[in-house]
Amino acid sequence: MNIAIGADHGGHKLKKALVAYFLAKTKHNVFNAGTFSEHRCDYPEFAKEVAKLILTRRAKMGILICKTGLGMSMAANRQKGIRAALCNNIKMAKASRQHNNANVLVLGANYVTEDLAKRMCDAFIKTKFLSGRHARRVRKMEG
Ligand code: RB5
Repeated sequence: MNIAIGADHGGHKLKKALVAYFLAKTKHNVFNAGTFSEHRCDYPEFAKEVAKLILTRRAKMGILICKTGLGMSMAANRQKGIRAALCNNIKMAKASRQHNNANVLVLGANYVTEDLAKRMCDAFIKTKFLSGRHARRVRKMEG
């Protein structure tokens, strides 16, 4: 699967670890949308870039990381067609796929460990949307 990943300076370290994990341990293709250093930068730029990769179908899913996950989720959810889910545990990551058909997993680097983040990414990517009654609700969000 093609996965887009982006972070601001607050999420840079975790993004680096996740990109290395995807390359070494999975068969997914990763589009790394930056940032590429610890220098202060503005999270909406990366949220928009990851959203663009998804909306133009170059990536199927996205991962966004900032310190809290709050700014990234707000910025990503302003883009029509993006359903970004700020999750703190594996159950939420799975539910965001099953019930909300989330296409972006948002992580707060200050609130998850590297190991948990890897497991949340795995769960998010492999969990399917349940459709049925949930599809009606997701459609209503788009209106
Ligand atoms: C950066 O200091 C911080 O504001 C950002 O990473 C994020 O947590 C915003 O919501």
